[in-house]
Amino acid sequence: MTISAHGGTLVNRFNPTYDTSALTKVITIDDIAQSDLELIGIGGYSPITGFLNEQDYTSVVENMRLADGTVWSIPIALPVSDAELKDLVIGDEAKLVRDGEVYGTITISSIYTPDKQQEAVNVYGTADEVHPGVKQMLNRPDTYVGGDIVLIKHQEPEFEAYTFTPEETRATFAAKGWQTVVGFQTRNPVHRAHEYIQKAALETIDGLFLNPLVGKTKSDDIPADVRMESYEVLLENYYPKNRVHLGIFPAAMRYAGPREAIFHALVRKNYGCTHFIVGRDHAGVGDYYGTYDAQEIFTNFTTEELGIQPLKFEHSFYCNACSGMATTKTCPHGKEDHIILSGTKVREMLRAGQVPPKEFSRKEVVDVLIKGMQQAEVNA
Ligand code: ADX
Repeated sequence: MTISAHGGTLVNRFNPTYDTSALTKVITIDDIAQSDLELIGIGGYSPITGFLNEQDYTSVVENMRLADGTVWSIPIALPVSDAELKDLVIGDEAKLVRDGEVYGTITISSIYTPDKQQEAVNVYGTADEVHPGVKQMLNRPDTYVGGDIVLIKHQEPEFEAYTFTPEETRATFAAKGWQTVVGFQTRNPVHRAHEYIQKAALETIDGLFLNPLVGKTKSDDIPADVRMESYEVLLENYYPKNRVHLGIFPAAMRYAGPREAIFHALVRKNYGCTHFIVGRDHAGVGDYYGTYDAQEIFTNFTTEELGIQPLKFEHSFYCNACSGMATTKTCPHGKEDHIILSGTKVREMLRAGQVPPKEFSRKEVVDVLIKGMQQAEVNA
């Protein structure tokens, strides 16, 4: 059984031979817009076929739905600088350009000035400019352009062996005979807690799609190339090969917590997942969200309109008294027995060449991370 794409049809707007020779107008895209263009083009954001017009944008910000009612929680907008806007009118088809290369086109159906304060409060749950997602949104130009796109050129794949379109992952899952597939979003190395919830899911689900986000992340997150190497050693040593598929998710991180959890789930549905793991503080940052807000938000929608089943896991940890991984749902012991380290603390340790406890992270993973983090410092 192959699960339907969100909205019913998997979008494909990739056309490498699309002729742009008659187009004179240009919009310069940044790294976030480029990853959004890529994901719209390959169908990762189905049913979206372009950057959101004002009506859809407003509806997403206010109601977590596109104007036609389809659930959608993150506004996929195309901010355009004032200098380039001067030349643009509705109806124009403009080239989408980065570093002199044309990656696609947009047929402009809408030009609008968003209320960024409202976008911050509704989407990110805060107007605090220190929040990395809010800061990123505020730093981009103040006018948005909406309209259908054509994807002409894929972005250079940094991890070619792990780069797949939703059509390809769907075919892979079918070829493996997986009836059920659980998607796992991560912007971190896979530590024991992540492994525990993945494997708990794998006890009842046929396959795991390990789908690390490799688009733009905040500067203190662990770089994607180091993470990819850490996933490889982990899968090699601790996972049955026929139960896991590793593929990158080229999106930028928004750190929008609950809203991003919905978005992450819908996109994984497009990649062919039937289930999606939502653990503790999914896509969160700092103290902006409650530990389980990203799980609770799912209750706003019916199973049918989401079309993918969230698998919710409590905060997991290694318990010395249990001698194993657990959560408060399965462990009767107190905090003194639990090994819990914050992401910030772990990154600090790795940078200093200190080894986090083996109960927190596998040795093979830690070796890769320390080497990678130290290399990154040398290159910086
Ligand atoms: S995220 O920004 O991509 O969500 P991270 O890579 O840390 O960050 O998390 C990946 C997934 O694992 C998320 O669903 C998150 O909620 C979950 N998760 C991370 N750490 C834990 C933990 N200790 N216990 C339970 N779930 C966790």
